Amino acid sequence: MNFAVFASGNGGNLQAIISALRVQKIRAALQLVVSDRADAYALVRARKAKVPTLCLNPKNFETREAFDRAVLAHLKERRIDFIVLAGYMRLFSHHFIRSYPNKILNIHPALLPAFKGTHSVRDAFQYGVKVTGVTVHFIVEEMDAGAVILQEAVAVGPKDTESSLARKIHRVEHRVYPKAIDLFARGKLKLTGHTVKII
Ligand code: GAR
Repeated sequence: MNFAVFASGNGGNLQAIISALRVQKIRAALQLVVSDRADAYALVRARKAKVPTLCLNPKNFETREAFDRAVLAHLKERRIDFIVLAGYMRLFSHHFIRSYPNKILNIHPALLPAFKGTHSVRDAFQYGVKVTGVTVHFIVEEMDAGAVILQEAVAVGPKDTESSLARKIHRVEHRVYPKAIDLFARGKLKLTGHTVKII
């Protein structure tokens, strides 16, 4: 199975994926790293690992769908079977999601359906929860609403700050995401309705 990673920022999860690929903990081929931001450090990580990159500026496209169609053409050319979002902060058009039905994975730094959105670590910390965590899920058209693949809880300790909590969450992400990607790539995830079973 060929896959692409989409990232807009630091690329910590991308790095964990690259490390897992090196030791065959993910049995699939990373063929492309896609970004919507030329300054994404994820692109530097990809180049260092000799993974091909694609960076398109959304400002050069008139509509969301036009941008997505350009990305899709590259995915088709590289025969990408599935997509892994790793800190990709751009919403997709319906057309894009329909082009990869149940084949787009995302990682979210909270226990969905709690704390959806783009500031989930901060939102959970400010709410004062004692437990938050990490969710890997499928992408559907509604934001952060797809079926859950894997989840892991992270405790919020009395001495935690927002940044220490973020570090804890990132460590868990880097362990859980490669595992979920490998399960998907090996056909071990069975989706029935909104429930994913590991088979
Ligand atoms: C990760 O914590 C990921 O869960 C989060 O962005 C971060 C990217 O970090 N994604 C979302 O909040 C999606 N709504 P990274 O660039 O170091 O992998």
